[in-house]
Amino acid sequence: MATVRLDQKARALIRAIPDSYHSALAKFFGSGPKDIELARKQHNDYKLALESTGIDVIMLDADHNHPDCLFVEDQAVIIDGHVLLPVPGHPSRVNEQPPIADFLIREMGGAQICRMSGDARMDGGDILRLGDIFFVGRSTRTNDLGIEELRDLLSHLGHELRAIDIPEHALHLTSIASTPTDNIILAPEGYLPKDAFGDLPNGSQVIWMPEEETYGCNTIGLPGGKVLVSEGYPTVQKTLEDLGLEVINVDFSEIKAADGSLTCCSLFY
Ligand code: GLY
Repeated sequence: MATVRLDQKARALIRAIPDSYHSALAKFFGSGPKDIELARKQHNDYKLALESTGIDVIMLDADHNHPDCLFVEDQAVIIDGHVLLPVPGHPSRVNEQPPIADFLIREMGGAQICRMSGDARMDGGDILRLGDIFFVGRSTRTNDLGIEELRDLLSHLGHELRAIDIPEHALHLTSIASTPTDNIILAPEGYLPKDAFGDLPNGSQVIWMPEEETYGCNTIGLPGGKVLVSEGYPTVQKTLEDLGLEVINVDFSEIKAADGSLTCCSLFY
């Protein structure tokens, strides 16, 4: 999940892969999952990788009526102990949310919970945090009403929102960008203009990767100088290693087949 700083990544929620996973939405990186058992193995390797860095990982049961239910990132926006429950941008995904909301309300006792309403739409996968700046993708899943509701919460918390138009050939902002550390944005050529992120604070930078490694640009920065990276993206891997980070690889091919990336499968809280 891309809305918490490294020092806020103590616990992660993930969700099991449903028997209906072969029907998950797929239009961008993949044409649909074929091998559910392989997907489950890769998802378990992901869980183990997070746990290997000391993160406490809880897995919710699958909802077999919702093929995309493993992509929990889209269902809640957690910022500094506050939770915004968005109205997901694809109608088939709206009813994935209640068990996730119930879990967060229970586990984050005392957290302020806000619910998006009316015609506002947002997928959590459209949000990327760099320090006190929140970049939000205006996409087929996230509309201006949703962005304004998030802006209200961020203003209340003293954070800045910058909207970025997501091109038609990408699903979410986090499909094409991530923050492997709290001051680096990794993004591929060929999707966003070079000034898309605007002026960044001193010490922060955008590092552009070759377009053929777009999927690899979705990484998860982890405590202790570690970073989770999908297997098969050598430029991404070398760039992060050259920065002194310890790369942990997972093969995510059957998650990619449903347009899912590393950040899609967890909510840090
Ligand atoms: N398959 C993930 C999504 O389209 O939301």
